[in-house]
Amino acid sequence: MNTIALYPGSFDPITYGHLDILERATKLFEKVIVTVAVNKEKSSVFSGEERIDLINECLRGKTWARNVEVNKFKGLLVNHATKMKAKTLIRGVRQISDFEYEFRMALTNKRLQPSVDTIFLMPDEEFTFISASLVKEIAYWGGDLSSFVPPNVAEALKAKYSGNQ
Ligand code: PNS
Repeated sequence: MNTIALYPGSFDPITYGHLDILERATKLFEKVIVTVAVNKEKSSVFSGEERIDLINECLRGKTWARNVEVNKFKGLLVNHATKMKAKTLIRGVRQISDFEYEFRMALTNKRLQPSVDTIFLMPDEEFTFISASLVKEIAYWGGDLSSFVPPNVAEALKAKYSGNQ
């Protein structure tokens, strides 16, 4: 049985919702690789390295994260999965509206690489409405980020958006 899973995403930036999904995944797989997509680096607020650093900071000292690795990829996700010897992709589904896009993506990945499956996990109810784009909007307008992202991410967002208003 292959027990390496890849948890891909933009993570621009990582939120409490992502962390909830990641923690759930660590209980199901021996190793979970969080992999940051850098295909659209220019349109993201944080660079690939910044996003990786923020994720690693969030995971520091967490016992459940002992089987987590963080890296980045460019190009097709399934090629990265093959390189990482991962047979499973993890995606979080917060609500039905996420599902159509996720279903299309999972089927596309399956067509490209039939040996790789996608598993969908639901976050805790309290995180179902959190998204990185909403978090960036709140940061832009100087709102309270404390229930959406960990403190290090809130600080990084504040620094990015300082002087914007
Ligand atoms: O956090 P996101 O932005 O919803 O993550 C989407 C992501 C990065 C996982 C997806 O866009 C992706 O896998 N991009 C890499 C290119 C690719 O493999 N495309 C084919 C599958 S749709």
